[in-house]
Amino acid sequence: MPSILVVGAGQMGQGIAQTAAVSGFQVFVTDALPDGLNRGTDNIKHRVQGQVDKGLMSLADAELAISRLNALDRLEDAPSVDLVVEAIWEDEAAKLEIFRTLDARMGSATILASNTSSISITRLARVTKRPQQVIGMHFMNPVPVMALVEVIRGELTADATVRAVLQWAKDLGKIPVEARDYPGFVANRILMPMINEAIFALGEGVADRDAIDTVMKLGMHHPMGPLTLADFIGLDTCLSILEVLYQGFGDPKYRPAPLLRKMVDAGLYGKKSGRGFYDYASSAL
Ligand code: CAA
Repeated sequence: MPSILVVGAGQMGQGIAQTAAVSGFQVFVTDALPDGLNRGTDNIKHRVQGQVDKGLMSLADAELAISRLNALDRLEDAPSVDLVVEAIWEDEAAKLEIFRTLDARMGSATILASNTSSISITRLARVTKRPQQVIGMHFMNPVPVMALVEVIRGELTADATVRAVLQWAKDLGKIPVEARDYPGFVANRILMPMINEAIFALGEGVADRDAIDTVMKLGMHHPMGPLTLADFIGLDTCLSILEVLYQGFGDPKYRPAPLLRKMVDAGLYGKKSGRGFYDYASSAL
């Protein structure tokens, strides 16, 4: 089975590593923060155990999956693998640094993918000597549950790289969909303006939080209302993606809602920080 290195053990990295381990990949996972790595691997083990408790996986399969998971304190300790998926926070400078390091350390056949939700794959590829082997592999949260992987071809990505990644996405039990390298690709170009508009509506007092979410849940059959979904994704991530759309297209329709900016300034990032549009301190949502 292929080997995969997941860089970043946050909510997306955890989901990707869990899915890969359960799908039979040899998995290496790393995080710049030791605490982040420990918390990430604990969460993965807890979720896999949860599948056993629900009768969805045998104990033997769960133990096998966990045995395929290797936590690495330092990215520099990673062996060369078939596929790297970078899943750190949405910061272009930080991602460029990771891509430089990966390019210097991975074998010549390794494919370097980014789970970025909106940053240009072509620009990430530019800092490597293998732009033909750089690609976007954009998973959806929660990764173990959501079927989609957006596969983004940079300007110089080779057909062979696209073919390999489409196959690996299927091996991970996902349904890949190809997109071109435009700001926000497909998923966030459509999703973020909806979330942003919901925040404008809240800020303008069109309706209250629960009413806005209820309209979209009951009226459009969305599994979560847009404000709940924004909290779930992370308000800092939503703001970063909107900034990429706004700058990338230069179109005011993508300007982030002032209320979103204020909340991010206040450290209200949503579920991960304990408070966003909703309060999670006393709830297990
Ligand atoms: N991590 C892993 N698994 C999770 C999870 C998490 N954070 N949250 C829920 N799950 C799993 C549960 O374990 C359960 O799995 P099993 O069926 O195997 O037991 C399954 O999801 C359903 O969970 P629940 O029954 O508890 O809850 P639900 O029916 O309300 O569904 C949900 C939860 C799947 C998250 C659903 O509310 C949903 O689909 N929400 C919308 C999610 C969405 O839109 N995601 C895309 C976000 S955009 C993105 O990711 C891209 C980007 O760049 C921003």
